[in-house]
Formats: sequence, structure tokens, C-alpha cells
Amino acid sequence: MSKPYLIKNRHADDISNTSSNPAFSQVLQAKLSRRSLLQGSAAAGAAAVLPLGLLQSSGAQAKTAASSARARRLGFKSVPFSTQDTVVVPEGYTARAFYKWGDPVGIAGKMPAFKPDASNSTQEQAYQAGMHHDGMAFFPLPLGSNRADHGLLAMNHEYIDNGLLFPDGTANWDLNKARKGQNAMGVSVVEVRRSGNGWEIVRPSAYARRITVNTPMSISGPARGHALMKTAADSRGTTVLGTMQNCANGKTPWGTYLTCEENWSDIFTKPSGNMTALEKRYGIGREEKEYLWSGVDNRFDSDKNPNEANRFGWVVEIDPFNPQSTPRKHTALGRIKHEGAEVTITPGGRVAVYMGDDQRFEYIYKFVSKNTYRPDNGNRTHNMSLLEEGTLYVARFNADGSGDWLPLVYGQNGLTAENGFADQGEVLVKTRMAADLLGATKMDRPEWISADPFASGSLYCTLTNNNERGKEGKPGADAANPRNDNRFGHIIRWQEKGGDGTQTAFTWDILVLAGNKQAAKAEHKGNIKGDDFGSPDGLSFDHRGVLWIQTDVSSSTINQKEYAGMGNNQMVATIVGSGEYRRFLTAPRGAEVTGIAFTPDNKTLFINIQHPGEPSEGLSDPHNPKAVSSWPDGPSGGRPRAATVVITKNDGGVIGS
Ligand code: FEO
Ligand code: CA
Ligand code: CA
Ligand code: CA
Repeated sequence: MSKPYLIKNRHADDISNTSSNPAFSQVLQAKLSRRSLLQGSAAAGAAAVLPLGLLQSSGAQAKTAASSARARRLGFKSVPFSTQDTVVVPEGYTARAFYKWGDPVGIAGKMPAFKPDASNSTQEQAYQAGMHHDGMAFFPLPLGSNRADHGLLAMNHEYIDNGLLFPDGTANWDLNKARKGQNAMGVSVVEVRRSGNGWEIVRPSAYARRITVNTPMSISGPARGHALMKTAADSRGTTVLGTMQNCANGKTPWGTYLTCEENWSDIFTKPSGNMTALEKRYGIGREEKEYLWSGVDNRFDSDKNPNEANRFGWVVEIDPFNPQSTPRKHTALGRIKHEGAEVTITPGGRVAVYMGDDQRFEYIYKFVSKNTYRPDNGNRTHNMSLLEEGTLYVARFNADGSGDWLPLVYGQNGLTAENGFADQGEVLVKTRMAADLLGATKMDRPEWISADPFASGSLYCTLTNNNERGKEGKPGADAANPRNDNRFGHIIRWQEKGGDGTQTAFTWDILVLAGNKQAAKAEHKGNIKGDDFGSPDGLSFDHRGVLWIQTDVSSSTINQKEYAGMGNNQMVATIVGSGEYRRFLTAPRGAEVTGIAFTPDNKTLFINIQHPGEPSEGLSDPHNPKAVSSWPDGPSGGRPRAATVVITKNDGGVIGS
């Protein structure tokens, strides 16, 4: 490569929030006292902070039916930091890669084999696993069952590496090459089954599906048909081609998959340089040198198609059980750089969905449905309408440990025509700007959110890092983001009032400050008891209440600088309240660990290894694709490939026990 460009992490280097929305760091005294309280309490463990009654409050089950007793201890032996080019799991466990980028998804009659030199055609890529697997969910088959040996895996393919996707990289660039990249993003649905040989992809399968950047999908909610959603190709503003930059995910109790559009603004360009306030607020730039789609596909040129960008940045609901179904973009859940969407059912039966906007100094949101969830598969059609109507809120974390959900509702709190919001559809297209006006708290890159399955209304969120905090002209440390130069990130949690996600008040505290005990500076050491980690991203409780944390240290930082000695990315587990963190898995070189899906018996764990071999400077070199990693195919393979990894305990036992 003559010109390396940072890819995935470019968005992290940008800041789009220049609003004067007052950070409550201005309340200096409160901040300082809260900070010392937090650091003390985090070290002392959970129960010291949240009243036990709240932690254990019953009410309706949060995310899943907690089918077993809450785990009280971790049973595996910690693995050390690793720089090996493989997935390392504890003694007594086995990890095996399957469903690698380029493997056929399993559509009958359309199962092209992967070509290790990346010479598969654009059309073949549409029938194969995409690149850079990310969020993922397991759906037992048949629908509504609790089967742990047969099901569907729905997963995201977040982004691409043009250096690996083609034998000659970006040379001879044209629309056909851009289309291959578009076919390598989006979502896969694969059927998986466990037999005597372990878990395998079922091929062919009537469920097998690839959703790409060109799959038709409908728009739901208040922005459906809005003037801001209309384009030359879609004069009604109701139908979009595709979804992209699919990061983390959600899973509904009615058996649908939510895929979340994160760094979509990296795709669009505005060559004239005349970016509107709206485009600036979401980070659309004059040019981009990573995907190169907008130069050959006018849809992504914002001078030529100014509203197309408004049709991205949403949460998309997909029915994995019906490959003919049309995915729906739910505008009621807001337009941001959506990381994930954690779905909970409130004690009164409404759906509360928690979502992070992953960029420095952006916000945390929740959506509360207007209508209530009805258990039982017979009500699936009703339940599939629940994300179309409701109220969106943004979080304000007060310095005294209280918090407020501020409603993004047209006509309230200044969200009026005088301030640029003509109706609710406009509030949602401009979600970030509406949240600025309400005074939401600027966070250190909100990534995944997970609900404690044993405590209604108890949510945890990874704030991966933000080394811009405290820099000149940028917001400084505050109670909820207590470290300037936050290179290691932290995990924040909140408890909805009364365990009820429909409430607008909550209490919060910080679970842990990630860090490296060997780091030179005090602010980088963190307060982890046990195994160190940094840049937490993936976060999920399993069915036993064990909290799993996956890291995404950027390729330019892995094992370097403050992270020296920490090796590759990793996955750790903790029992909330124990204060102990224990390393369960380490990734191959250059990879992020992401995607968490447990079977209902908690005996199989699926994870994703994203971008193995990503060089520190950005795109892979097509003439030396294995410079960093040759995982999972090894030295005889053609290039590194993102893949799903299936993890089981050799004695057939419960993961983590
Ligand atoms: Fe796609 Fe914020 O990670
Ligand atoms: Ca992520
Ligand atoms: Ca990340
Ligand atoms: Ca990454």
C-alpha cells in the first residue's frame, strides 16, 4: 500500500459534538466529591453502592428468562496475556473457528466456495459470509423453543478491508468493486446444528440469508415518508436500499434480530465541502479514502443525493425465521451512530431499549414503547409493531449519582420549529441535535449496554475510551466520565427507579475503571481487581448472570504505548459484586473480540473474531495480506479471515462454571 489509511477507528478520532450543551463538569465541587466516592466504592464492590434491594429487585424479567440460579463464582482458570496468533481459552475448553468470511451462507444452489486469493466475484460475495463479523444472536429452532443444539445465528458484518477483499486491493477501482464491498457488509443468518462432530453450519438451509447494502428495507415510525427521507429514487421516503456499518445488535423476546448502523457517515462524502449543520453534526466529510464507494456510486455522494444519508443511522429489525421478510428501519429509536440495542421488558410489559451512540462526547439513549409486549408466539405480529411507536429519551447523569431520562419529543423542552425541529420526524432525523438542546451528558464513547437478567431495570454500559477528554477546548472529567485522557475506558451502570424502565429517574455509579496496573501514569492504572483489560466494548450478561466483557483496543494501540505488555484483545468475565475480573480468552493478532451469544443451556458460547491481521496503520497490503496474522487458516491459507468461534467445555458443562 502506498497510502495507508486508518479505517475502523477513524470515527473515534473525530469529534462531532461541538455543542455548548453544558457538561456538568462545571459543577466542580460536586464533581470532585463524587469522584472520590466513586473510586472508593468501585473498589469496594457493587453492593456497597446500589442498595441490595435494588440489585435484587424482582419484577418482570429483564432481557431473558433467567433459567438458572445466579452464578456466585467463576470456575475457570485465567489465561495470561497473549501475543499468539490464535484464540486461547482456559484449560478444559475448546474453541473452533467456523463461518469464516467467504464461507457460503448456505442458500440452495448458491454456495460458492471461498477462494483464498480473494478472487470470488461480486455476486459470489452476496452468497458468502461478509467481512468483519460483529454483534450476533442465537435463536433456537423451532421459534419459541429452548433448544440448545439447533438454531439460527444472526450476525453483523460491520466493515470491510479493501486490502483483503481483492487480490489487487483498490487498484482498477470501479463500481463492480464497490459493489463487492457492499455485498461484504450487512447481516448473515445461518442455520447451525450440534451433532457428534460438534457445531456445524447447515447447508443448504431454508433460513440462510445475506442482507447487504442493497437489500430493500422499509422505514417505520415518525420519520417514515418525511421530507428529509425522500430521495430521487424513493420519492415517498418509505423504502431504503440496505443497511451498513452494522456494529452491535439486539434481540427481542419475540424472536427478531436488531442490527445497528454505526459508522455509516464514513461512507458518505460531500465533495463540494458545503456541509450542512446536520451533516457536520454526524461527521460527514468532504472526502474519504477508505471505502471509495461515493466516487462510483452516486447514492453516497451527498452533493448529488443530499437526503440519502438521513436514511442511515437507524436500528433495523430483521425476522431471521423468514428469509423473505423485509427488514424495517425503526426511526422511533433515533438516528445516531448506533452501537447496540439492548431490549428489556418493563414490569408493566412495555419494551425499553437501551442504546449507545459511539463517538467521543456522545450520549446514551433509551426508547420506551407505547404499547405492551404480549408473551406467546401467537402475538408475534402485534409484538413486531412495538418498536414503531414510543418515546425516545437521552440520559443525563447528575453529579450526585442521580440521573434523568430527557424526552426527545417535538414541542417539548425547546424541540420546536424556532429551534429547527418542525415535527417529530425531524427531531428523530436530527436526534443528536435534539439531545444537545436538552443538555444530555457527553460520554466517553458509549458501546454495548447489557441488562442484568436477575435485576429488573439494572443496566451496564461500556465506555470504551476517550483520550480527548480534558484536552484544551474539550470537556473535562465529570462524575460519570471521571478521568481525563481516558485511554482505558470504564463501565457505568444505572438502576431505573423502582426497577421500571418506563421511569424517567435513575441512580447510577461506576462499576470499574479499566486500566493497566503497570502503566506509568496513575490515571491509566484503573482499579481492576484481578486481570487487567482496557477499551471494553462487547458486554453481555449470560443466562447465569455472569458479566462478559470483550475488548477493542485499536490496531494502532494493541500491545503498545500505555497498553504495552497487555498483548492482544481479550474477553474477561466478572461476577458483579465480587469485584474480580478474570481473563477467559485472548484473540489472534490484530483482531477485536466481539459478538456474544450463548445457547439457552449456557453450554455453548459463540463469539466473533473481527479483523484479524488488521495492521496498525490501517488497510491491509494486498501484496502481503498475512503481514500481521494468518488466522484462522494458518500459513497455508491465503489471508486472515474474520470468523465466528464456537466455544464449549470439554466435559460438556456450563461455560464459566
Ligand atoms: Fe462498532 Fe463502537 O464499535
Ligand atoms: Ca463495538
Ligand atoms: Ca469499539
Ligand atoms: Ca475494532
